[in-house]
Parts: sequence; C-alpha cells; structure tokens
Amino acid sequence: MMKNEALIDRLAQTHTLTLAEYEALVAGQTPELAAYAAQRADTLRRAVYGTEVYVRGLIEVSSVCRNDCYYCGLRRSNAACERYTLTDAQILDCCEAGYSYGFRTFVLQGGEGVLSAHRVCALVREIKTRRPDCAVTLSLGEYPTADYAAMRAAGADRYLLRHETADPAHYARLHPVGMSFENRMRCLRDLKALGFQTGCGFMVGSPGQTPQTLAQDLKFVETFQPAMCGIGPFLPQKDTPFGKEPPGTAEQTLYLLSLLQLIRPNLLLPATTALGTAAQDGRERGILAGANVVMPNLSPVEVRKKYALYDGKICTGEESAQCRDCLARRMEAIGFRIVTARGDIKEV
Ligand code: SAM
Ligand code: SF4
Ligand code: FES
Repeated sequence: MMKNEALIDRLAQTHTLTLAEYEALVAGQTPELAAYAAQRADTLRRAVYGTEVYVRGLIEVSSVCRNDCYYCGLRRSNAACERYTLTDAQILDCCEAGYSYGFRTFVLQGGEGVLSAHRVCALVREIKTRRPDCAVTLSLGEYPTADYAAMRAAGADRYLLRHETADPAHYARLHPVGMSFENRMRCLRDLKALGFQTGCGFMVGSPGQTPQTLAQDLKFVETFQPAMCGIGPFLPQKDTPFGKEPPGTAEQTLYLLSLLQLIRPNLLLPATTALGTAAQDGRERGILAGANVVMPNLSPVEVRKKYALYDGKICTGEESAQCRDCLARRMEAIGFRIVTARGDIKEV
C-alpha cells in the first residue's frame, strides 16, 4: 500500500496524526488519494449518521460590519457593498417560513458589531418561545465573554466562529492590525466552555495558505474537538484587497472535508454555499466526501444580493422554498435525504 493511503487508514482508526503527517497528506493530494479518503470518510459517516443530511436555515441578518477582513465583501472599507440590517420581525418571519418547510435549526449570521448582545438575547428568547423544538445557532462574530454567556443563558444552542487559520502569521496576512488571532481563540474557548455546540472552520485556498498552515488547521480541529467545522473555498470579491487572488478549488475542499471527517467522525460538516458556487455539483460531492449538513438560504430574497461575501454567489435570486426543494432533490439524487430534526452532534 502507498504511504499516504496507509496514513489515511491510520487516521480512520486512531483519529490523530502528527503535524508532519497532516502536511504530507495535504501536499500529497492526488485524485486517487482523494477518492480513497472520501470512500473511508463516507463509510465512517454512514456508521454515525446514516444517509441523513441535517438542514440549517441560514438567515443573513445584516451586511453591516465593523471589521475589515481582507477577503470579505462585507468589510467596512468596501464602499460598493449595499448595507442592510433585517428587523426583528423580518428575522422571525424567516424562522416561521423555515419552520413550515420542516427546518428545526436556524442560523443567524451577519457582520460584526451590529446586533447588540441585548438584541441577540431578545431575539433568541423569542424564537425559542415560539418554537421550543428548534435549535438556534449564532454566527455573529466576536463578543466579550459576558455577552456570549448572556446569549447562552437566553437559550442559544450553537455558535459558529470560523478560526479562519490556526497559524498566527497567516492570520495576520488575512486580517488588518487590530484584529487578533488571540482574541479569536479566546472567543472559541469561551464558547466551548459556556456549553455551546461550537463550530470553527476555515477557507480553503485563502492567500498565503500552505500545506503547513492547513496541517495546523487539521491539528487544531483534532485537539479543539468542535461540534461543527465550516469549510469552503476562498472566492475573491472584486472590491476587496484580495479581489484578484486565485480562488480555492472544490477539489481541495472536498479532500479536506474527508480528512476532517476522519479526524472526528461525528463532526457536523456542512457542504457550504461557497462549495456549491465553486462547482455546480459541489454540495452533492461534499456530502459524498463526508459532509452531512446543508444550509439553504432563508434570507428575504430582496436582501440576498447585498450579502455579497464573494462574487458569483449562488441562491441570490431564489426564494427560500426554491432552495429547500432544490437541495432536497439534490440530496435524493445521490441517495441521501434531508431530515426534519434539530440535528445535534451525536456522541460516539
Ligand atoms: N462576521 C462573522 C464572522 O466573520 O465570523 C460571520 C459572518 S462571515 C461573512 C462568515 C464566514 O464567511 C467567515 O468566517 C469567512 O470564512 C467566510 N468568508 C468571508 N469572505 C469569504 C470569501 N471571499 N470567500 C469565501 N468565504 C468567505
Ligand atoms: Fe465582517 Fe465576518 Fe466579513 Fe470579517 S468575515 S468582514 S467579520 S462579515
Ligand atoms: Fe438555492 Fe439550489 S439551493 S437554488
């Protein structure tokens, strides 16, 4: 057996490798090795989650952001970005629509520093009062510890905060001075300690990323043991400093999804919108590579184009019901099915 295939086998059995071994796997990607990893990941994932795909209704609550991440179309220096913030009534309407489609998890995502912790807590309480059988996931960036504690006490179940990169020097290449790797890590530690099902994650193919930094990302997931990990290709947005950088690829994203699944077979792994943008069948291939979550867009159709993280984003013209039906068909076509469930992590 080839050396890298033996590493995949060991990862599938022990769920741990050294940094050097992760780096060798990342650098040694070939179509054959990726297919091998996908097949191992698919088997392990089926043992935990069967052919169930969990669905999260994504509500993009605001395109306003105080941060200036070099990669993101919502960065505050982007004068071309059209800004909006949904009202509480609009957000609650999105949840109601999602509920009627069978969604039992809502993800409130948006730029940072717009929604006060007070407002987030009130919204979470209202959603949980109306729909106690639903999970609420927040993805609203960095807050002080006490604010996260208040959100958890208000009933929020999960928090997604991609670490973006586990390498401090690479973090500094992606973010301006003033945004800190240490604070990002502090937030992730806080969230986990507060009992949130916590999600980290990173872009694939971001400027300055190397097999070495990706190995650190994989080691970070192995040691941090998140409940969720969101990864998708970096895709350039023309009005940002990285507007002319090459995009990340679907192929590398799919391979990394498989490796993540082998590191932690119960990980909740979304086949992301960015993956579906990089390749027409990206989300289906993501599921086949080991992912088990999809996140159809529930945002009001009139704001979708304004939440322009990157160029060419799919699902910006469709109604929520269209995305729901589209994803259900896509999953059925590959032998999986979307389920009506909160979709919490299964402990193994
Ligand atoms: N503001 C919050 C935060 O940064 O955590 C949540 C919203 S932010 C838009 C969600 C994720 O979008 C980021 O964590 C980042 O990984 C991803 N993202 C931003 N710009 C992107 C781009 N150009 N290509 C792919 N993903 C991007
Ligand atoms: Fe703001 Fe998040 Fe975009 Fe950074 S990635 S500019 S924090 S919305
Ligand atoms: Fe939105 Fe296919 S998921 S149109």
